[in-house]
Amino acid sequence: MDRPTVICHMLMALDGKIDGPFFSASETMPALRKYGEVRRFYDCPATIYGTTTMAEGYADGFVSDLPETDAVFPRKDYLGDSDVKNYIVSLDGEGVLKWHGKYLEKKGRPKAHVIEVLTEKAPDRYLAYLRGFGISYLFAGKKTIDCSLLLRKLKTLFGIDRVMLAGGGVTNQAFAAAGLIDELSIVLAPTADGDSGSASLFETGGFSSASPAAYSLKAVERIENDTLWLRYISKNRRKTQ
Ligand SMILES: NC(=O)c1ccc[n+]([C@@H]2O[C@H](COP(=O)([O-])OP(=O)(O)OC[C@H]3O[C@@H](n4cnc5c(N)ncnc54)[C@H](OP(=O)(O)O)[C@@H]3O)[C@@H](O)[C@H]2O)c1
Repeated sequence: MDRPTVICHMLMALDGKIDGPFFSASETMPALRKYGEVRRFYDCPATIYGTTTMAEGYADGFVSDLPETDAVFPRKDYLGDSDVKNYIVSLDGEGVLKWHGKYLEKKGRPKAHVIEVLTEKAPDRYLAYLRGFGISYLFAGKKTIDCSLLLRKLKTLFGIDRVMLAGGGVTNQAFAAAGLIDELSIVLAPTADGDSGSASLFETGGFSSASPAAYSLKAVERIENDTLWLRYISKNRRKTQ
């Protein structure tokens, strides 16, 4: 296969939501623990997140003070040096996320090199900003990110064979609509809050179509406090594009 295997791994409430008040219910805690355990079980060398998820939980929010520069950079991929082979892959089509360095170190997770995924809309000033940190960046589309092209680049340029796709919903749907999810892993908390404003597992969000995808059940594990770990294989996956 000319792309990495894609495992979409998410923690979800009974109403299909992936964020919202249900996270603070005590009955959700076993699901949170299981979510981390399962992430370690898959042991993927790279994890992909959307812009919103990156800004909230991994990058330093949004950048407001890009350095002035007259430099013009070709729209070519840039690979910064890395002393690790774990990667955080950040969808950031327009180049808006703020960073403090080329590595992310989160408690309980291996140190990871940042790979920014841009479109040609990202300004030169942002490319200069990333180069200043030695953050790698890839171009994967003119106006929106072509997920298939991105995956092929992760394989050919970084030798990545397996990635965890870890949300949010808009990002998950961009890959699902292109037939690029191989396995879907859901830790289902026995809670729900019905919050209409929270993201769902899959959301078109203006980046993809609402074409239905089908999955076949691979395994179900019942754990503490009625939490379930559900594993599905996608019936719509495309090996190559
Ligand atoms: N429960 C869990 O396991 C879990 C895991 C992760 C996240 N979450 C939650 O999910 C929520 C965020 O989800 P979300 O769906 O709103 O956002 P998201 O998927 O994190 O980010 C969406 C953004 O990513 C960029 N993007 C995605 N696909 C793209 C494409 N093909 N081309 C160009 N840009 C693309 C766009 O940014 P721009 O619009 O800026 O261009 C888009 O608006 C957060 O509340 C987070 O806490 C939950």
